[in-house]
Amino acid sequence: MPNTLTITDNRTGKSYELPIENNTIRSLDLRKIKVNEDDFGLMPYDPSLMNTASVVSKITFIDGDKGILLYRGYPIEQLAEQSWSFLEVAYLLINGELPPTGDALASFQEDVKKHMFVHENIKKFMNGFRYDAHPMAIFMSTMGALSTFYPDTRKIFDPEIRRLQMWRILGKAPTLAGYACRHREGLPYIYPDMEMTYTGNFLNMMFQRTEKKYHPHPVIEKAMSILFILHADHEQNCSTNVMRSIGSSHVDPYSAVAGATAALWGPLHGGANEAVIHMLKEIGNVKNIPDFIKGVKEGKRKLMGFGHRVYKNYDPRAKIIKQLTQEVFEVTGANPKMEIAMELEKIALNDEYFISRKLYPNVDFYSGLIYEMMGFALEFYPVLFAIPRVAGWLAQWEEHVLDAEQKITRPRQIYLGHERRDYVPRKERKG
Ligand code: SDX
Repeated sequence: MPNTLTITDNRTGKSYELPIENNTIRSLDLRKIKVNEDDFGLMPYDPSLMNTASVVSKITFIDGDKGILLYRGYPIEQLAEQSWSFLEVAYLLINGELPPTGDALASFQEDVKKHMFVHENIKKFMNGFRYDAHPMAIFMSTMGALSTFYPDTRKIFDPEIRRLQMWRILGKAPTLAGYACRHREGLPYIYPDMEMTYTGNFLNMMFQRTEKKYHPHPVIEKAMSILFILHADHEQNCSTNVMRSIGSSHVDPYSAVAGATAALWGPLHGGANEAVIHMLKEIGNVKNIPDFIKGVKEGKRKLMGFGHRVYKNYDPRAKIIKQLTQEVFEVTGANPKMEIAMELEKIALNDEYFISRKLYPNVDFYSGLIYEMMGFALEFYPVLFAIPRVAGWLAQWEEHVLDAEQKITRPRQIYLGHERRDYVPRKERKG
C-alpha cells in the first residue's frame, strides 16, 4: 500500500494524494486543496499546537501513553540511577553521545565550571532589585543582561563562538541563581569553587554561611544532581518551543534563554512546583482533601502537579522523585506535607474524574516537597527547574539553528475580524 493520504474535497469532488512521512503530512501540501485558482488553499488549524510537529529532533523522546522518557535514547531511570552527574547528562543532550572517556567528561566539566564566574557588574544588577523580587524575574533579566558582556554571542553560526556561549550560559545559570538567593537574604555573594562539582557549587553558592568551607551533604548533592537530570529536557514543551522560536530569528542564545525562562515560570509549566506547595499548605490536613477534590471536580481549581499534555500515564520523573523523597528525608527529616500529597495522589488515582482525564502526578508534584526540606525558599522552586533546563534549551536551540529546513517561525492565522472599512473622523463617531 502506498504511504500516502488520499483527500477528497467534497466542495469540488477533486482528490489529492499527500505523502505521509514519519507519520505526518506536510501542512504546506494542504495548500494544493483549493476551490479555485485564486483560493489560498487549506491550512490546518491547531490552537496550542495540540497535534502539530513543528520540528524534527533527535534529542528527547517521550511516549506519553507508556510513560517513557529517553534522552538521546537512554532511559531517564538509568541516567538518574547510574549517571547522577548532571554535566554528563548535559554533555549527552548537547553532543548526542555520552562522554567517551573520563577525560572527555573532565574536560567538559572544566569548560563549563570555569565559566561559572559572572562579571562583577552583575552584582550591581542584583542590587538593583528589591529584596523580595521573585528570583525567576531576577534569573530571567540577568540572563538576558549577560548578552551585553559578550557582543560576539550574536555570531551564532561560528561553531567555536556558539559553543563558548553555550558553556558560559550553562556555567552561569547556577551562579545567577545563587546571587539572587544571597541578594534576597542580604548575604554576601559566594564565588564558584573550582574544587566542587557543578551541583556542589550551586549548593555552596546558595547555602554557605559561616563555615570556612561549605561541604554539601553527599545525599543532598546526589539528590540535587538527580533532580537536575530529571529536569534537563523534555522535547517540545512550552518553554523549549519558545527557545526555538526566539532562536529562529537568530538572536543571541542569552536572549533566547531569558525568553524561555519567562515561559517556564508560568504556573501551568515550571511554576507548578511552587504552586503545588501553596496548594498543599492551603489543604493543610488530609481531612480537608475531599472538599478540595470536590472543588477541583467542580472546575473551581486545578490539582497542581497533576496532568500533562503528553503523559497520559504516570510521569516517569515523578516516580523517581517520589522515591528520592525517602533518601532525602532520611537526612533532612520528613516533610509533613508528604502525607497530604500521598493521600491526594491515592484519592485522585482512584477517582473517575482524574482517571477519565488520564491525570497523573507530573514532575512538579513531589519535587517541591524535597526542595522545601533542602532549605530552598518557595519562590526558588521554578529557578531549580530553569537551571537544569538550560542544558535542554541549549541543545534544542543549537539543533534548531543548524536545521537547514527551519526558517524564522511565523505561524498563520484564521482572521475573523472586520472587513476593510474607512476611518471615521472623531466628530462623526456615534455614542
Ligand atoms: C510541566 O510539556 C511538558 O513537557 C512540560 C513539562 C516539562 O518537563 O517541560 O513536563 C513540565 O510543565 C509539567 C506540568 C506542570 N503543570 C501543572 O502541574 C499544572 C496543572 N496541570 C494542568 O494545568 C494541565 O494538566 C497541563 C497544563 C499540564 C496540561 O494541560 P492540557 O494538556 O492543555 O490539558 P487540558 O488543560 O486541556 O485538560 C484536559 C482536561 C480538562 O478537563 P475538561 O475541560 O475536559 O473537563 O483535564 C482537566 C482539564 O480541566 N485537567 C485538570 C488538570 N489538568 C487537566 N483538572 C484538574 N487538575 C489538573 N491539574
